Amino acid sequence: MAAGTPHPLVLAGSGESGSIFRPGGRFFRLAGRRGQLRSRRRLTPPRGRASFRRMNIEPLKEQFAARFGRPPQHLVRAPGRVNLVGEHTDYNDGFVLPIAIDRQIAAAVAIREDRTLRLASMEADEQAAVALDEPIETGSPAWANYCRGVAAGLLDAGVELVGADVLFHSDVPLGAGLSSSAALEVCTAMALLAAAGKTGAVAPYDLARLCQTAEHVYAGAPCGIMDQAISVMGRAGRALLLDCRDGSTELIPFDDPRMVLLVADTQVKHAIADGGYAARRTQCESAAAKLHLPSLRDADAGMVADAAETGKLDEKETMRARHVVGEIARTLAAVEALKGGDYRRFGELMYGSHASLRDDYEVSCPELDAIVELARPLGGVCGARMTGGGFGGSAIILAQAERAEEISQAVAAGFAERFGRACPIFATRAEAGAGML
Ligand code: GLA
Repeated sequence: MAAGTPHPLVLAGSGESGSIFRPGGRFFRLAGRRGQLRSRRRLTPPRGRASFRRMNIEPLKEQFAARFGRPPQHLVRAPGRVNLVGEHTDYNDGFVLPIAIDRQIAAAVAIREDRTLRLASMEADEQAAVALDEPIETGSPAWANYCRGVAAGLLDAGVELVGADVLFHSDVPLGAGLSSSAALEVCTAMALLAAAGKTGAVAPYDLARLCQTAEHVYAGAPCGIMDQAISVMGRAGRALLLDCRDGSTELIPFDDPRMVLLVADTQVKHAIADGGYAARRTQCESAAAKLHLPSLRDADAGMVADAAETGKLDEKETMRARHVVGEIARTLAAVEALKGGDYRRFGELMYGSHASLRDDYEVSCPELDAIVELARPLGGVCGARMTGGGFGGSAIILAQAERAEEISQAVAAGFAERFGRACPIFATRAEAGAGML
């Protein structure tokens, strides 16, 4: 397979264009904790109230039965993510502040008598077979390599897996920078552990690391730990402050009903295995080595400025290091702003993060910059920035809930005028990390 080929779990909803705000429309009210449906009563939201997604699992169950001739024994899920702030800091031992979102990959699973995994997806034509007693290698279809890597990692970790049929279903838009790959890895892990009766056998952070390794080795994508960690450890109504040096975490409330987080998908596809991401990692590592530091987490702004002046760091290393040092500080400042409900300050930090990613880290693109600049002057917008690895993908806008609909429309219209095509925008919120359905 081509290293890092994105899996084709595109879906339902990813092709939708324009805003999903439905003034006077209908939505399901979800309970705050762990995304459980508290009431099945349909409510009419006040004007501008966002609709959040809840995947319909019935087609997954039906298709599983149709393909494999029996009902599934387990249903599991793992979400995609957006990162609020703290970009390209994870592989520099820094801090990140992501949320798990209401877009996920779900899987239906049933045990098989033999030692084979049959992996299929509602979003892909080809299915894969993996023999558990033979060395697990990459192969076709390419999307299943994320799953092969996870199976290999679990076996290496000593987990006794069993043969299983697995059917995936995704509503994480593909290539939108919302971590569909991490969701697929974590969902695979949940499915295989459930089939083996070993749910909970691997500690959450270890499971995230195992999935990260799968992505490195089986997809050729040298990602950090953020995406897998939030997919495993996300909580409804909370952002996760993760210290990527030691894996310690703090849950930060992110559930103010007056605010909403909008995700605007540029539809410019990016892949971590493309080379730009790895090049940034290498520049950071070489900057840290030249500063005689274990990682850029240990650098400060003065050190970077001095090293630039004396020529110890070259121009690109200086720019990359300046971003990382500034972004780590911004992430910690953003946590304080969030704790104090200071959205104006939080928004300034988002703009600061975007500018640094654009100018010093050079991972933005005209479409991402346009979304941020279109949003910035609008009433009710607190802040905006690109999210994820960059080179395309999505931007996020933190906005007052009551203005969110008009903001979405204005940004979508400005984007269409500039680029001649739609820019899907949807509202999201912090949802629970991976689990059983
Ligand atoms: C991608 C990677 C993450 C992280 C971000 C940038 O999403 O998978 O590990 O490095 O880019 O913050």
